[in-house]
Parts: sequence; structure tokens; C-alpha cells
Amino acid sequence: MKIGVLTGGGDCPGLNAAVRAVVYRAAQNGHGVVGFLDGWRGVRDDLARPLAPADVADAVLRGGTMLGSSRTNPFAKPGDAEKVDATLDRRGIDALVAIGGDDTLGAARELAKRGRKVVGVPKTMDNDVAATDWTFGFDSASSVSVDALERLRDTAASHHRAIVLEVMGRHAGWVALATGLGGGADFTLLPEEPYDEERLLTHVRAAVVRKGFALVVVSEGVDLGPRKGTAGAKDEFGHELLREREAGPEVARRIEAGTGIETRSAVIGHIQRGGAPTLFDRILATRMGAKAVDLLLEGRSGEVAVLRGGTIVGVPFDEALRENKKVGAEWLDLLHTFDA
Ligand code: F6P
Repeated sequence: MKIGVLTGGGDCPGLNAAVRAVVYRAAQNGHGVVGFLDGWRGVRDDLARPLAPADVADAVLRGGTMLGSSRTNPFAKPGDAEKVDATLDRRGIDALVAIGGDDTLGAARELAKRGRKVVGVPKTMDNDVAATDWTFGFDSASSVSVDALERLRDTAASHHRAIVLEVMGRHAGWVALATGLGGGADFTLLPEEPYDEERLLTHVRAAVVRKGFALVVVSEGVDLGPRKGTAGAKDEFGHELLREREAGPEVARRIEAGTGIETRSAVIGHIQRGGAPTLFDRILATRMGAKAVDLLLEGRSGEVAVLRGGTIVGVPFDEALRENKKVGAEWLDLLHTFDA
């Protein structure tokens, strides 16, 4: 077989480990791999390079994606689907491994429906793919924001301030949850709960009375109600660009106005998407990449390699894409155990 591999959507640590596993597992079984560049754009516009084990030997250590990425939807414009077909035929690609989040996997499902052999590997630092227990990228990105919160703690304590850290996560609060729990925040705001200003201010005041400072984690996706100038621009898949909302700085303004406590904010943004993957993400990505090839070797297509209770299994695209995984009641209950 000639297997094509691509990485689409926002980059995250672990993508290179997954690509490496695809290449090695394919080579182990006598198959070749071609890497498409910049996600679906590479398939549409025929941008690719051959990948041998020697090309990816150290990739398990590296952040980002050596193949490049984009948020290109290959079925967005009339004529694009034909270009995709032409590339795959010209290059003699027998099967594709698409590594990405909902959007990338949604395009992969479309291609599978058109009769191509395609399997998926879920990735996202947001951890919001419902079919899998965890996605790689999440552990690495959350570890970075926990580190940031620890640093902010020093300044908050030294200056007796409240400090707000805004973290990524789109419309799911997993990264905020992990940062708040793992970094010992006094209060954490997630999109899964309605914004309650009184509750926020009460906990910030209590933290400052008790220990002289307060740390608040805010997920970029929290809904703070209508505000001027926040009608967001959208990407190619129709997602609002949440950075335009400035949730963290706005919460900091509200804390200072409501409590009189000097408050600062920091937005971690893309800093938390870069850097080497954690061990957990290296292993998870490696297992998923290898499983994707195994699915193809078993003659399976239209499936995504996911983690279920410790085992990597294949599930149909429809199941993998059915819903976004949100932070549930049990997690929220645990989180609020530690409210100041
Ligand atoms: O989906 C991953 C993610 O990092 C989100 O957490 C964030 O909202 C978005 O991507 C940012 O996208 P971009 O890199 O296109 O600005």
C-alpha cells in the first residue's frame, strides 16, 4: 500500500509522534508513506513529500507538526473535491490517515463516503472529542498552563493581587479544568457553567482575606454576556475566533471593579500549544498512529483510532464526530471542592 498522512487543524504536541508511528508501522509491514503538507490543503493542491523512518526518527520528541497544518476545508469550494481526487489518483495513494480534530476528521469522513480508504486519528489540545477518553496534545498544553499559573502565583502573592489566567479550549473547559485543579486556582470559569459574577467575586474576596492573593483561571470560551465590539470573526469551518472576546482581561476588569482588589490578567494563547509533548502525549499519539495503520492492514476504513478504558480501538467516523465532549457534573463537583 501507499499510505498518505496529513495533520490538520490547530497544531499540538504529539502530532509528530503520531506521524512517526504511522511511518514506522507501515514500514514494518512493507508499506510506503507519503506526507501531505499543510493539512487538507496539501491533498487539494498536491503538496507532499515521501516519508521514510529516517525522516521521522526523532519526531517523537518534537512539538508542532513537521508536515505543517492548516484549517483548510477541502470540500468548501466547488471543484475542490475533484482536485483532491486528482491528487490521490496521480500519486497512487491507496489509503489516507488523517490526524486532526472535528473539522479534519469531518473532511476525512466525507472522503470515506466518496469511496476512499480513510482512517482518522483524533488530536486536539481541547480534549473535546467525545469518542476518546483523552486526546493527545491536551496533557502537554495543560501542563504549560499549570506552569504559567505557578509563575503567576509568585507575582500575585508578592503584590497581594488577584491574577486571571485565560487559557484556550474553545467551547469545552477541559484545559481550564486541568489548569485550575492541577495549578491550585481559587476559582475557575468554564463554558460549561453559566457565568455567576457574585460567586466569582465572593471567592476572590475570600481568597484574598485568607492568604493575601487570588488566582482565577478563565477558559476563553466562557460566555460573559453581550459586550461591545465582540462580534467575532470566523474561520473556514465557521468557528468563532475566541481570542477576539478577551474573556480573561474582561473578567480581570470585573474583579477589580467589583472588589477593589488590584487585578491583572495574562492570556497564555498559543504559548500553550508549542513545545515538546509530555510523556503521556508521546505514548498516546504513538499508540493511535500505529493503530490507524493496523486498521488499514485489517482492511478497515471509515474509522478513527481512539482510547477507550486503556485500549486503542477503531470506532466509525459518525460515532467519533457525534458530539463535542464537555466537562461533566462529576468533574465540576471535584473542581468546586477547591473554590476559595
Ligand atoms: O482547537 C485548538 C485551539 O487551540 C483552540 O483551543 C483555540 O481556540 C484555537 O485552536 C485557536 O486557533 P488558531 O490557532 O487558529 O488561532
